[in-house]
Amino acid sequence: MTSTPRRRAVVTGAAGFIGSHLCERLLSDGWSVTGIDCFTDYYPRADKLANLTELTGEPRFDLLERDLVREGWEESFAGATAVFHLAAQAGVRDSFGASFGYYASNNLVATQRVFEAAESAGVARVVWASSSSVYGDAEAHPCREPSTPTRPRSPYGVTKRACEDLARVYRSHGLATVGLRYFTVYGPRQRPDMAMRRICDALVTGGRFPQFGDGSQSRDFTFVTDAVDATVRAAHAETTSTDVYNVGGGEEATLSRVIATLERIAGRRLDLDRQPAQRGDVVRTSAEVSLARRDLGWNPVVSLDDGLAAELAWVEARQPMEAGAA
Ligand SMILES: NC(=O)c1ccc[n+]([C@@H]2O[C@H](COP(=O)([O-])OP(=O)(O)OC[C@H]3O[C@@H](n4cnc5c(N)ncnc54)[C@H](O)[C@@H]3O)[C@@H](O)[C@H]2O)c1
Repeated sequence: MTSTPRRRAVVTGAAGFIGSHLCERLLSDGWSVTGIDCFTDYYPRADKLANLTELTGEPRFDLLERDLVREGWEESFAGATAVFHLAAQAGVRDSFGASFGYYASNNLVATQRVFEAAESAGVARVVWASSSSVYGDAEAHPCREPSTPTRPRSPYGVTKRACEDLARVYRSHGLATVGLRYFTVYGPRQRPDMAMRRICDALVTGGRFPQFGDGSQSRDFTFVTDAVDATVRAAHAETTSTDVYNVGGGEEATLSRVIATLERIAGRRLDLDRQPAQRGDVVRTSAEVSLARRDLGWNPVVSLDDGLAAELAWVEARQPMEAGAA
C-alpha cells in the first residue's frame, strides 16, 4: 500500500479574515499548514486571535509570529508544496496620507521578499492575493483580466498593481505564481473596517452607520468560502493560462440593496449617517470569471442573501463575548 505524501502549505496573513478561513480549509483537505502573521495593529490583536480559535491546538498547524518585512521566517518555506501569500495592509481609504508607508512596506516590500524566498526554496507554486482595486473605475463591465486596463484609484490599488508586476518578473525567472483579484470578500470574521461588517455591527448594537456616497455604488461580492475555494484550486490547477484571475462571487449589488437585505434579515432599521463619497472609492466593480471557471474549475455557490445572513449571525454571536471582555 502506498501512502499519499503529505502536502505542506505556508499561509501568510494566517490570522486575518481570509487567511484564517484558508488555513481551516487546507487542514480539512489534509494539508499541514504553517501560518505566518505579525498581527499588525490595523484592527485588534484580540480579533485576530479569535480568528485562530479553530486552528489552535490542531497538530498539523503551527503559527510563526513574524513580520515578512524582516528576517526570520524564510526557512519555513523549505519543503513547502505551496505558499499562499495573503498578508497585506488592506483598506482603500487609509492608503492615502501618512499611512501609505505601511502599504508600501506590507504589500510591496513583503511580497518581493516572499517571491525571493519562494524562489530560493524551490516552492512549486505561490498563490497570492491581488485585488479588484487594480481596475479602478473601469470604462466597461464586467472587468476581464486580459483586456480591461488596470488603472487603480487608490494608493492601495497601486501597491497591488505593482505586486502584479513583481509577480510577472519572478514568473519570467521561473517561479510559478498565480495572482487572484479578489472582489469584496465578506462573511464571518470580515475585517471591522469593511462596509458590510460595519452595517452588521450597527444593526446589532444600535449604533449609526456612516454611509459614504448615495448608496448606488455597487460591488461584486464574494463569500469567503467561495474565495477560499478559488485560492485552493489555484494551487492545484494544472494549466494557468493567465497570471491573475478574477475571483468575484457573481452577484453584484448596490450598497442600498445590501442595507435593505440586512435590515430585512435583522428585522431592524439601520440608523444611517449620510456622508459624501470618499476618495479612492469606485462606483462599480464587476468580474468576468470565465477564466477561473475554465482553468481552476471554480464556481461560486453562496448567494448574497445566504452570505449576508451568515455574517450577521456571526456578528450577533460575538456580542456577548465583546460585552464580557469590556
Ligand atoms: N477582504 C477583501 O475583500 C479583499 C479584497 C481584495 C483583496 N484582498 C486581499 O486579501 C488579503 C487578505 O485580506 P483580509 O481581508 O483577510 O485582510 P486582513 O487584514 O484580515 O489579513 C491580513 C493579515 O496580514 C497580516 N500582515 C500584514 N502585514 C504583514 C507582514 N508584513 N508580515 C506578516 N503579516 C502581515 C495582518 O496582521 C493580517 O492578519 C490581503 O492581501 C488583501 O489585500 C482582500
